[in-house]
Amino acid sequence: MKTFKLHNNIQIPAVGFGTYKIQEGQECIDAVKFALKHNYRHIDTAAVYENEKSVGIAIRESAVPREELFITTKVWNTERGYEKTLKAFDASMERLGLEYLDLYLIHWPANTKQFSNAAELNAETWRALETLYMNGKIRAIGVSNFLVHHLEELFKTATIKPMINQIEYHPGYTQADTVEFCKQHNILVEAWSPLGRGRVLENPLLVELAGKYNASTGAICLQFALQQGIIVLPKSTNEERIIANNSIDFTLSDEDIKKINNMTETGFSGLQPDNVDF
Ligand code: A2P
Repeated sequence: MKTFKLHNNIQIPAVGFGTYKIQEGQECIDAVKFALKHNYRHIDTAAVYENEKSVGIAIRESAVPREELFITTKVWNTERGYEKTLKAFDASMERLGLEYLDLYLIHWPANTKQFSNAAELNAETWRALETLYMNGKIRAIGVSNFLVHHLEELFKTATIKPMINQIEYHPGYTQADTVEFCKQHNILVEAWSPLGRGRVLENPLLVELAGKYNASTGAICLQFALQQGIIVLPKSTNEERIIANNSIDFTLSDEDIKKINNMTETGFSGLQPDNVDF
């Protein structure tokens, strides 16, 4: 299993199973159990996905030793702030039924469009993550959807730098500035929507490369990120694709990576962290 190393020396499996929009209940339990059976050891959920309970059930029913697993969840926007985040963490752990968490993320930065005290709110939320980390409840802490200016602002008060920044990343939307900044600061990038929610899978360049490497266009998207040191969190409820997304065995040439990096913007979700209204 391919792993990357966080700046606190923890190993993280490079391919994680994404669970966004997977329905709480049997659909989610089955998908996560199937993923665990097929060697995924990294599961990504969030309080707002409302499927943490099912992820917990799947973990227990699969009987994979806890120490082999890497489990991520995220604090939702309504729970920002020091005390509220501590409470939100306890509630997530209760739903997951876990004793400790591997990675806890701030789901979205508070933005100034909605909050006059956005910087302070983000700093206080981060301080709660630092407390939980220092108390040994979480093995790593990070952020999600933070742009360069959000990270620079956070660094003014943080005592621990985030280990992860999870952002939208796929061919046609690679956020080069944020990725470069994270690299300089030893923050690993995780790609949400690494397949562009299917919006980029018909792209002529990706289709051409799929032919060249005898792979699916989905695999081209995932390998494109992995080869650049970016963690991918593909989600699927289709058994064949769950297996395929975690069994990629080809290498893209540097030239082809460059071609994908030069694609014109395509498949952007439209969710710009400074403009979202949730
Ligand atoms: P399905 O559950 O039917 O497999 P993203 O992670 O970029 O948000 O994309 C997730 C979407 O892409 C899901 O709708 C999923 O549908 C689909 N998907 C997952 N893996 C693949 C793949 N290898 N090729 C094509 N589509 C995929």
